[in-house]
Amino acid sequence: MKQADSQSTTKGPEGGQKHPGSGGPSPWVRRFAPLVPAGAPVLDLACGGGRHSRLFLERGHPVLAVDRDLSRLGALADDPRLEALTCDLEGGPPPSFLERRFGGIVVTNYLHRPLFGPLAAALAPGGVLIYETFAKGNERFGKPSNPHFLLYAGELLEAFQGRLDVIAYENVVVEQPKAAAVQRLCARAPAEEEETEAGE
Ligand SMILES: C[S@@+](CC[C@H](N)C(=O)[O-])C[C@H]1O[C@@H](n2cnc3c(N)ncnc32)[C@H](O)[C@@H]1O
Repeated sequence: MKQADSQSTTKGPEGGQKHPGSGGPSPWVRRFAPLVPAGAPVLDLACGGGRHSRLFLERGHPVLAVDRDLSRLGALADDPRLEALTCDLEGGPPPSFLERRFGGIVVTNYLHRPLFGPLAAALAPGGVLIYETFAKGNERFGKPSNPHFLLYAGELLEAFQGRLDVIAYENVVVEQPKAAAVQRLCARAPAEEEETEAGE
């Protein structure tokens, strides 16, 4: 998708431009980060400035940070435990890094529906997906307002239930860092034994 609509900026308290993904980690991501198996590799998809890459690095995880523009990673790009990959996620078939297996995948403020399936498949057994992005209703608050970039009611839940074990799901309006309608999900890939049993 053309993401320009979802890359709106808002005025910060000092009047300067403030990116909606700037600042500290999302409370939703912070809340569920401890469920990612200790030391397991984490994928930060469409990482932007890397606020969630930083969170998981601090928690002791190696991180693959992917975005078409890594310029906002700054000094984080020099962290030896961070692998930074420039990639257009929408330019063709699912990118090859999704053939790897991750103990955690975090996606925030980014939506490209064809990646739902490949993301679920890229979780290692017991791996955790933490996803939060804009939903229908957000047009009341500003951008993104293009319906293509907004989840329809229940969409994030529908996308992953059945493939993953849903731990938590919300369709809410948040007030910070600015008012926004979002859906957010945390879900876990079945453990290896369950997969084997299902395959028998
Ligand atoms: C609103 S920002 C969110 C950044 C980060 N996930 C966060 O919440 O802080 C959306 C990000 O998606 C990236 N993006 C948009 N379209 C993309 C594409 N086709 N391929 C790769 N990255 C893309 C942008 O470069 C931007 O960093």
